[in-house]
Amino acid sequence: MGVMREFNRDALGFIERMQRDYGDIVWSRFLYVPALFLYHPNEIESVLTTNAKNFRKAMTLRSNFFQRLVGNGLLTSEGEEWKRKRRLSNPAFHRERVATYATTMVDYAKRLTANWRNGETRDMHRDMMRLTLEIVVRCLFSADVSHDVDHVGETLAAMVKPFAAQATLKWILNNRLPTPEHVRFHRLARKIDKVVYRIIAERRASGKDEGDLLSMLLAVQDEDGSGMNDQQLRDEVMTLFLAGHETTALTLAWSWYLLGQNPEAEKRFHAELGSVLGDGDATFADLSRLKYTEQIVKESMRLYPPAYGLGREAIKDCEIGGYHVPPGTQVFMFQWATHRDARFFEAPLRFKPERWTAEFEAQLPKYAYFPFGAGPRACIGASFAMMEMVLVLATIGQRFRLQLDPNHPVETYPAMSLRPKDGVKVKVERRNP
Ligand code: HEM
Repeated sequence: MGVMREFNRDALGFIERMQRDYGDIVWSRFLYVPALFLYHPNEIESVLTTNAKNFRKAMTLRSNFFQRLVGNGLLTSEGEEWKRKRRLSNPAFHRERVATYATTMVDYAKRLTANWRNGETRDMHRDMMRLTLEIVVRCLFSADVSHDVDHVGETLAAMVKPFAAQATLKWILNNRLPTPEHVRFHRLARKIDKVVYRIIAERRASGKDEGDLLSMLLAVQDEDGSGMNDQQLRDEVMTLFLAGHETTALTLAWSWYLLGQNPEAEKRFHAELGSVLGDGDATFADLSRLKYTEQIVKESMRLYPPAYGLGREAIKDCEIGGYHVPPGTQVFMFQWATHRDARFFEAPLRFKPERWTAEFEAQLPKYAYFPFGAGPRACIGASFAMMEMVLVLATIGQRFRLQLDPNHPVETYPAMSLRPKDGVKVKVERRNP
């Protein structure tokens, strides 16, 4: 079994223990598959950037479940096909373009809080998932999913569940055989396909150029004049549905949790909102002055990185840190561990947004902090996400103070991304009622 059982029992604890017991480079095995765990920024740099050509995405991304979910979109494709997709999608994520999404982000956050009642208890994980899904779909596909949002959110949440236990025989079997779990997964996938295909069909029917990512993808033509078919479009849209909302929602949920635990930081956060925004709505122009809010986001992604681990597979013989690595080796790097490494972060377990000064960032080894990955496959939506997270925190923080529910302990749940196990329950208190 290799380390499968141990990993599955307590993934985060296992990740930490391996480094503590064996150091920065650890050989291991999941069933018959050789695995290498890398903890030091130097080796992480080598895999993600310097020698990126020696690797492709890890085998888990090629599983049936994952393929059914996002197909062969930007996140999962490789080689020339990936390059073409990345080139196609890039314009939607350029800085000037991303700036135009700011108003939507603020408006949707305001719309969410408009329904909040003073003193009520809310689950911020759930609220943030809804909000970020609505935002990404509106910004990139000019579509409104407010009627489907609960349904889509719940379907996605139910679909990603199997990833919580990827390193189990049960998961491997469910992935390949028509077990009840397998059948259920595929039924849910069909449900969510319907929403995505509807968005595509509506745009094809209207023939309108909205100037958004969907119009760009629809306009793409190969040399022979053929465009993307519905299946290819579905894969791209679904990839962005998933990659573009869950991670952002999680960072927001963890940020509320950390602010709730750290009243001094919360005070400073509110003070910044008061001095920079007053009663006005946050805009793109305010971003450069919402410094502390941005530091909160960075510190939250350090302690609770939504992508808590990255995987690659060696495709040719290579060397890492003096060790020979044969093709087929699965190589894992863990933001969860490296972001909490005392060699790079003083008092690593403490929430200290103020540590993120320009001087600190300048001396930090580049690959000691990599919430968005790095190298050619780095997150395409990083500036989209940073802007969204700062604007959403600011817009909600201006209106409400969020107090953690003392009867609701928050635990980590390392599924496909790092979730709060049963959400983050808070009492919302209107500021300046
Ligand atoms: C806090 C928010 C986010 C985090 C932490 C995050 C993290 C990541 C990471 C770590 C990767 C690299 C995966 C790898 O190397 O295997 C990635 C890739 C990607 N992300 Fe994000 N992401 C976030 C937000 C977004 C948003 C808002 C979008 C789109 C709107 C997005 C779209 C993508 C896509 C399409 C890829 C694949 C890029 C490629 O392979 O060329 N992400 N993200």
